[in-house]
Amino acid sequence: MKKEIIQPAKCLTGAVELPGDKSISHRYAMLAALAEGTSELRHFSAAADCHSTLDCVRALGAEVKIDKDTVRVTGRGARGLKSSWRALDAGNSGTTMRLLAGILAGQNFSSKLTGDDSLQKRPMKRVIAPLREMGADIRGREDNFAPLEIHGAKLHAIDYKMPMPSAQVKSAVLLAGLFAEGGASVTEPARTRDHTEIALEEFGASVEKSGLTIRVHPLGGGNGRKKLTARPLDVPGDLSSAVFFLAAASLLPGSNLLIHNVGLNPTRTAILDVFAEMGASIEMLGVKSSQGEVIGDLAVKGASLKGGVIAGRRIPLVIDELPMLAALAPYTEEGIEIRDAGELRVKESDRIAALAENLRRLGASVEERPDGLKVAGRDAGTLHGAEIDPRGDHRIAMAFAVAGLAAEGNTVIRDADCASVSFPTFFAELNRLLER
Ligand code: S3P
Repeated sequence: MKKEIIQPAKCLTGAVELPGDKSISHRYAMLAALAEGTSELRHFSAAADCHSTLDCVRALGAEVKIDKDTVRVTGRGARGLKSSWRALDAGNSGTTMRLLAGILAGQNFSSKLTGDDSLQKRPMKRVIAPLREMGADIRGREDNFAPLEIHGAKLHAIDYKMPMPSAQVKSAVLLAGLFAEGGASVTEPARTRDHTEIALEEFGASVEKSGLTIRVHPLGGGNGRKKLTARPLDVPGDLSSAVFFLAAASLLPGSNLLIHNVGLNPTRTAILDVFAEMGASIEMLGVKSSQGEVIGDLAVKGASLKGGVIAGRRIPLVIDELPMLAALAPYTEEGIEIRDAGELRVKESDRIAALAENLRRLGASVEERPDGLKVAGRDAGTLHGAEIDPRGDHRIAMAFAVAGLAAEGNTVIRDADCASVSFPTFFAELNRLLER
């Protein structure tokens, strides 16, 4: 359990090296495993989560070769996966477990999906329920938690109206739809990240979109049905990882950072709107489309942040960025209030509780609520360094490393290795760009 010591810093300058996008890497790995041929996935995420996905697809019979950040996956074709003799281990990764559950539900074999202590506490009913409606036989502890036993079955079509906005649930149903007689459609209550839809099209599946409804047609060899074909694909840099650097550079006056090749898919960039409304100086440069996604560079400079309220339909679009925003709050003019974000309690940790506890350790004034928190701004006093307990949660560890840069005295991040779940080189990258 490695500790990281964060000393107060003056500014950040230079160019950030980001890992490949975690959400996109998961999807490319899974679809490449179902495709015919070898897909070369470049700038594949270094995140431990995505490597859990690679381990799982390998156990299901795909060939996976890793050469630095290039991953070559040789797929087994739509009907070619084989049963794994051991349980599939999703590690800390909710995306691995929920998306794979969709694929495994439609196979002609049984599987067991498990994960670490944190993942075994996260709700799976949200995918079990729609997959069962499609005819899947899935059993979990208390009908909600991993390990999941999935007995592959002949699936039938579904038109699923999602009760909650979740890209993982949407993706699980769409992936199951590839194996269902009649396919599947999903209607979202609010827009969520659309990487699955885009990746399905890139690999050659037949996808239709109309408003908040997405329909996928089943795969097959004949009958005019599509199959998935291997492809070379470039994974954009992960905007959710970039956010820690956008926050750090905004926080420290005199900072000047460039972040190249960031994924700027519009279902992910709500965080940039939030930053802009708070007065951050972030410029998008060279924006272009690439393989269905949007990429570009970001230039960020130090700025004084106003703070504000984040709530409603925006929440699912910035859900992974809320820890960083909350940890910045005590440095803003008005503080930050987060509402309608009860979902944060069932992420890699109870993020509302973890944020409240660690913000208080730094001396911030916090009101914890069932669905969010209200953190007072800079008038409430200066923060002082403290020992942070990230509760094994990568985004909490990174958010407080950033907050510690502007506190008085040193901040210690306990169990800092947990950052590897999404960003293994985070602390090295931060230290490389800092001026003290
Ligand atoms: C993700 C979807 C989101 C997000 C998670 C990644 C994905 O989860 O928080 O980090 O890759 O689909 P939910 O679908 O549970 O909102």
